[in-house]
Amino acid sequence: MAYHIVTLVGSLRKEGFSIKIANALAKLAPSSLSLEVVTPAGISFFNQDLEGAPPADWLAFREKLQKSNGVLFITPEYNRSIPGVLKNAIDVASRPYGKSSFNGKPVGIISNSPGPLGGVSAAKHLQNILPGIAGPILQQPEIYLNGVGDAFDAAGNLTKDSLKTVLQQYIDAFAAHVAKNQG
Ligand code: FNR
Repeated sequence: MAYHIVTLVGSLRKEGFSIKIANALAKLAPSSLSLEVVTPAGISFFNQDLEGAPPADWLAFREKLQKSNGVLFITPEYNRSIPGVLKNAIDVASRPYGKSSFNGKPVGIISNSPGPLGGVSAAKHLQNILPGIAGPILQQPEIYLNGVGDAFDAAGNLTKDSLKTVLQQYIDAFAAHVAKNQG
C-alpha cells in the first residue's frame, strides 16, 4: 500500500503556484506515495484559550496529519518568511504541548517564487520551525524553485521541463526518505 502524504500548501490563493506545484507533484510521485493536497483554508486562528475545547477544524486537521505517513510542505514566501496562514496551521498542529501531530513524521520542504530567489528565506524559516515538532527533514536535495510564474499553462498543467525535472528528482528522494523513516 502506498504511503499517505499530506502535501501542505502555504497559500490560500486558488490560482496559486504553490497549489499548482502540489498538483503537479501528485502526478509525478512514484506509486509508493499517495499525495493528498491540503491548504490551510478554514483552520481557525490558534488561541491558547481554546485548547481545552478545541474547534472541530483543529481536530480534523490534526487527525489528518496524525494518520499520514509524512508531510510535504510547499510554501511561497511572504516578506521573507512563510505566510501567516501556514504558520497558524503549524501552531495548531503543534499542540497540545508534547503531542505535535507532526511528531515523528518525515518531512519535506519545497519553497517557490515567481521571483529570482525561490522563496529560500521561507524554506529556511521552516527548517528552523520544524525540528522541535516534527520528524526528520529531507536535507538533500534542497529545492527552492524560482521563476515559477511561467511554468504552468492556463489549465494549471506544469509545462516547464526544467521544473519538472527537479520536481521529479525531489519527489523520488522524498519517497525514499518516507520509506526509511516510518515508525
Ligand atoms: C509576496 N511575494 C514575495 N515573493 C518573494 O519571493 N519573496 C517575498 O518576500 C515575497 N513577499 C510577498 C508578500 C506578500 C504579502 C505577497 C502577497 C506576496 C510574491 C509571492 O511570491 C507571489 O505572490 C506568489 O505568487 C505567492 O504564492 P502563490 O499564492 O502563488 O502560491
